[in-house]
Amino acid sequence: MTATGADRRRGPFAEGDRVQLTDPKGRLHTITLAAGKQFHTHRGHLRHDELIGAPDGSTVTNTAGVEYLALRPLLADWVMSMPRGAAVVYPKDAGQIVMMADVFPGATVVEAGVGSGALSMSLLRAVGDEGRVLSFERREDFAAIARANAREFFGGDHPAWSVRVGDLVQALPEAVTPGSVDRVVLDMLAPWECLEVVADALAPGGVLICYVATATQLSKVAEAMREHGTYTEPEAWESLVRGWHLEGLAVRPQHRMHGHTGFLVTTRRLAPGTTPPLRKRRPGRGYVTSEDATDADWTPENVGERVPSDKRVRRVRRSVAGTSDGS
Ligand SMILES: C[S@@+](CC[C@H](N)C(=O)[O-])C[C@H]1O[C@@H](n2cnc3c(N)ncnc32)[C@H](O)[C@@H]1O
Repeated sequence: MTATGADRRRGPFAEGDRVQLTDPKGRLHTITLAAGKQFHTHRGHLRHDELIGAPDGSTVTNTAGVEYLALRPLLADWVMSMPRGAAVVYPKDAGQIVMMADVFPGATVVEAGVGSGALSMSLLRAVGDEGRVLSFERREDFAAIARANAREFFGGDHPAWSVRVGDLVQALPEAVTPGSVDRVVLDMLAPWECLEVVADALAPGGVLICYVATATQLSKVAEAMREHGTYTEPEAWESLVRGWHLEGLAVRPQHRMHGHTGFLVTTRRLAPGTTPPLRKRRPGRGYVTSEDATDADWTPENVGERVPSDKRVRRVRRSVAGTSDGS
């Protein structure tokens, strides 16, 4: 059996295919091929019939002599150009999620929220036709946008996907057998509210990965994972991808980049009845969470700053005393 949509991702262009056209200035236009239709710009038009039957990666010239490169959009291209309601998980983060949450062919994956469906599509690719992605979205309108986006990309309804409208906290326990879910991916404002239902749903050793936009959410969800007592020590990171400009001798990083998308934090479900092992590096004596901290708790030590000893400061002071600024 071929993966869903595979037949629409290779071979000559056919009616109904989405095709990405790149003009000589590098501008992108995406069209859906239909016999007899034309693609118009202020400089001439192009007949879709010239593309239907042509191999992927062909060039075509419009009535004004403008040449276009025609390619099927990759999933990463599609995600960045498709209609969106909510903000999407960018391809660089979707790649990290699939790898670091170890989403495997045949896995049962729970995802919330669905938003525009960008991440859902990467998860569906990773689980394949034999896996299951159960996606939850509390906004009916967003769920409809996501379904339409995925249908367009896969060329139909993906057999591994079901989208339910509702809040994960209420809907998940009704949707899955406890301990049956391999992976859970949360991209939402308050993932800490879902830790209880996620712990019930996950199989022992199952992975939970959360994508959060701010450091305050990261702190809150990590503390909640620790406090819950059913999860391993969380691990967090972010990834920065910087594109490169490649032109003759001007080979250098691009001036612009997406400096921030989000943070990822993972943890794994412990076997029922297992208490989390003591952390190797125990938190310092003044360990306090941002939730519980009073004004007096915000000390350099508690935020992990290295505080130089008075002796060291005196030594540095003496060493700079002889310089012009150190008087
Ligand atoms: C940033 S969007 C998700 C984007 C999506 N991952 C994508 O790549 O297109 C966050 C979504 O989570 C939904 N949401 C927030 N809390 C939820 C919950 N408890 N249960 C279900 N959906 C939730 C919101 O309605 C919103 O659509």
